[in-house]
Amino acid sequence: MYTEKVMDHFMHPRNVGEIENASGVGTVGNAKCGDIMRIYLDIDENQVVRDAKFKTFGCGAAIATSSMATELIIGKTVQEALTVSNKAVMEALGGLPPVKVHCSLLAEQAVNAALWDYAKKNNITIEGLKPPVDDVDELHDHEDEDEE
Ligand code: FES
Repeated sequence: MYTEKVMDHFMHPRNVGEIENASGVGTVGNAKCGDIMRIYLDIDENQVVRDAKFKTFGCGAAIATSSMATELIIGKTVQEALTVSNKAVMEALGGLPPVKVHCSLLAEQAVNAALWDYAKKNNITIEGLKPPVDDVDELHDHEDEDEE
């Protein structure tokens, strides 16, 4: 069901932990499965992601996608990091089963939320950056409502 890469990132996740005095922190959750993901970014004066760490309270795919998302954004500018979509994360992992696609979406949203926090703290504009969905109840409103 899972690719070797997914299993690898699940068993040996990269960049687990937190960054003290992070440039930006983003926390998102999925109301349906109850999983929560937090991403910390350390961004240098040239707006390059120097380091990224994560803490995920969630399923294996959520852990693997957070791990891969942090790998993909380290070394990128904030503008480039913003374009790292859940699709890119999934591709880098060699794919995910359809029921696990939302886990990769959580990774995209967590990066977005951390970038938003960074932009807000530093009063800068990152083109294309949208306000994060910042609480689980809000997420619940527009996701899979009818299936409940
Ligand atoms: Fe919800 Fe994976 S089952 S994030």
